[in-house]
Parts: sequence; C-alpha cells; structure tokens
Amino acid sequence: MDQIQNIKLANGTAMPMQGFGVFQIPAGETERVVLDAINAGYRLIDTAYSYQNEAEVGRAVQAAIADGLVRREELFITTKAYIQQMGYEKTLAAFYESLHRLQLDYLDLYLIHMPFGDYYGSWRVLEELYAQGLIRAIGVCNFDSARLIDLSSNVRVRPMVDQIERHPHYQRRDEIKIMRELGVQPEGWAPFAEGLKGMFQEPLLMELAGKYGKTPAQVILKWDIQDGIAVIPKSTHKERMMENADIWDFELDAEDMRKIRTLDTDRPSMLDVNNPDEVKRVYDYLKNPVLTTL
Ligand SMILES: NC(=O)c1ccc[n+]([C@@H]2O[C@H](COP(=O)([O-])OP(=O)(O)OC[C@H]3O[C@@H](n4cnc5c(N)ncnc54)[C@H](OP(=O)(O)O)[C@@H]3O)[C@@H](O)[C@H]2O)c1
Repeated sequence: MDQIQNIKLANGTAMPMQGFGVFQIPAGETERVVLDAINAGYRLIDTAYSYQNEAEVGRAVQAAIADGLVRREELFITTKAYIQQMGYEKTLAAFYESLHRLQLDYLDLYLIHMPFGDYYGSWRVLEELYAQGLIRAIGVCNFDSARLIDLSSNVRVRPMVDQIERHPHYQRRDEIKIMRELGVQPEGWAPFAEGLKGMFQEPLLMELAGKYGKTPAQVILKWDIQDGIAVIPKSTHKERMMENADIWDFELDAEDMRKIRTLDTDRPSMLDVNNPDEVKRVYDYLKNPVLTTL
C-alpha cells in the first residue's frame, strides 16, 4: 500500500492528509481500534475531550511506541477542547488534563471544538502553549467563514486548521476558498457523512468506483485529497481501515472530479452551527453528556 502523504500547515508543520477519527467507538474498544489503525498505516489520530476516549488513545499510542511500531515523532495526535472548557483558565486546565490522559508531553494539533462560549479566551491559551512548544499547531472546528475571518483578524497566531463537516453532499466550496485565503488548512470530518442519506449507494460514486477498481469510500476520500482537504475517516473494522487507507495509488480525472460536484446539496447532513435548534441541542448535551452527540 502506498504511504499516506503529508501537507505543510501555515507554520511549516507537516500534517498527514489522511488521519483516523475515533468518535463513537463503543466503550472499551478504542485501544484495540487505534492500534489496528496504526498497524494499517495511519499516523494522525483525531480524538477529543468530548469523545471520552483520550485515555484509551493514550494507551494505544504508548503500546505502539513500546512495540517499536512507530516513534512518537511519526505520530500526529489531535485533540479538542469542548464548550464547557472554553475561557482562559478552563482551557489551560483542560489542555494539561488531555495531555495527561493521552500520556503525552506535547500535542501535534489542539482544536477549539465548537464556535461557542469564550473561545477568544481559549485562543490566548492555545497561542501561549504553541509559543512554549507544547502544541505544534493550533486550530478550530466548525467555524464558518464569518467566524473564521473574525477570529483570524483579532489574534496573534491564526488558526492553522479548520475541521469541518465536509463530504460529497456538503462540499462548502466558498468556505474552503476563504480558508485558503486565510492560510487555514481545511480538514473534513465525517467524510462519508457516516453513511447517511445513502452516501455509499450514490449511483455516481458506485459508477466511479467501478471505473477505477475502487470502492465508493475510496473514491470519496481521494476526491477530498485531490481537492486539498485532509480527511479523518473512522472505522472500527480493520479491513475497512485498510480499504480507506488504500487510496494513494490512483487519481480521479478532472472530469470525474467535476461530476462529483453535482452531488452537493449545499446543506449539512449532521451539524448546522447556525441553526438555533441545533445550538440548543448542543447546550442540552452539556446538561446530560452522552456519547451519541458531537
Ligand atoms: N470536529 C467535529 O465537530 C467532529 C464531528 C464529527 C466527527 N469528527 C471526527 O471525524 C471523524 C470521522 O467522522 P465520523 O466518524 O462521524 O463519520 P465517517 O468517518 O463519515 O463515517 C464513519 C462510519 O462509516 C463506516 N465506514 C467507515 N469506512 C467504511 C467503508 N470503507 N465502507 C463502509 N462503511 C464504512 C463506519 O462503520 P464502522 O465503524 O462500523 O466500520 C462508521 O459507521 C470522527 O471519528 C471524529 O474524529 C469531528
């Protein structure tokens, strides 16, 4: 299998274009899943405080290093601060708690998880930790263009990554163009939209899969990469992890890239941070956190 390629972030840090997400993995399975992913060739692991599995990720990373599978510097570990951790003091404490659970002495990427709460206070912490070398790159998630321009206009160190919902049904081309202007690397979460709205059965994706001798999942991931979007698919199945990583030996031609644009519905399948009902849902989650929400 060809190796996953890196991209350089605005500060020169190399980030794998393809990583592995660990959201919604059944309790107790994350350690095994992450070890399988590292064995399958993934080096970027994307977790979050709110996924409640940082400690399991940490155990898997330590086991992989102890087994001589990888060196720490070959890995790219991402975690995120959630809404209740926003504000200067809270994010400072949250960072060290995440680092402790992950058994690491630095993070590769630390992200503000939601564009809610006192994320400006949090950003000052990220800037300071970045200056101290405790985080190699800093960024945000789910910031739409307006919020991203606003944040970027008021900080010393601009976000280097914006991790957003992005898949063939929600392509966000205008927002990605603005990210490029700001020097922000787009990273697509839920590249398969978790299979919602028939993603894996899209006739065009099935047709292209047949044409290139690949699967619809592989076509989707390659389309993202060719569009310059980093991807972090999740799977608990080792064979799917390997399938998803096996995308570095083919290219979609320009006409097929254009055809995939026709699948855009211009609407999120999962999260709309500007929909009041969804914002309420996120705040309700904070009153009763369960693993089934973002
Ligand atoms: N920043 C944010 O707000 C945010 C929000 C959501 C997600 N994320 C990150 O993005 C990552 C990916 O998103 P996601 O996990 O929500 O969704 P996803 O990667 O779009 O989809 C995962 C689903 O697709 C299935 N799948 C994976 N590969 C497959 C294949 N080759 N063929 C068929 N089915 C396949 C998985 O099943 P199995 O697991 O059963 O194989 C799982 O049900 C997360 O894990 C998380 O790290 C970030």
